Amino acid sequence: MKKDIEKAFNDHLNAEFFSAYLYLSMANYFAAENLDGMAAWMRVQSEEERVHGMKFVDFINDRGGRVALQKIDQPAIEWKSPLAAFQEAYDHECLISAKINELVDLANKQNDHAAHNFLQWFVSEQVEEEATAQRIVEQLKRVGDNPVGLMIIDQQLGSRTFAPAEAAD
Ligand code: FEO
Repeated sequence: MKKDIEKAFNDHLNAEFFSAYLYLSMANYFAAENLDGMAAWMRVQSEEERVHGMKFVDFINDRGGRVALQKIDQPAIEWKSPLAAFQEAYDHECLISAKINELVDLANKQNDHAAHNFLQWFVSEQVEEEATAQRIVEQLKRVGDNPVGLMIIDQQLGSRTFAPAEAAD
């Protein structure tokens, strides 16, 4: 694999592992707030991000590149409200989408069809990631400070489970 694609993919897998860290930190915030459903949802989200990072690891190895793990930034540990946390999650997903798009541009520029093909999974995944986070943001905006509304959303989000195969498909 070409060196600049290898470098860009290594940088991106770091961003996916940072996402896992960020959502795990949000899970801990929700647990401390006794919002166990939101905590469970964020834990699953964190697991999914780890799977995303590993997809990049496997691809780099499969293509004869070299994985170079980098330091993972420290995420925040507090948010001022559940809405603020989910808003940040949504903004973060938009950032990840922009990074994926840049990788696609690079793969195209380098005529790397294998990388282009690999990235298409992430292009579709990001549509879903953004939509899911945005939907929760809108629901939280709608309930505002209503504790019953917040409890209902918390219960709904708590039904999410981690399915490793689904996370990678
Ligand atoms: Fe792996 Fe949420 O993007």
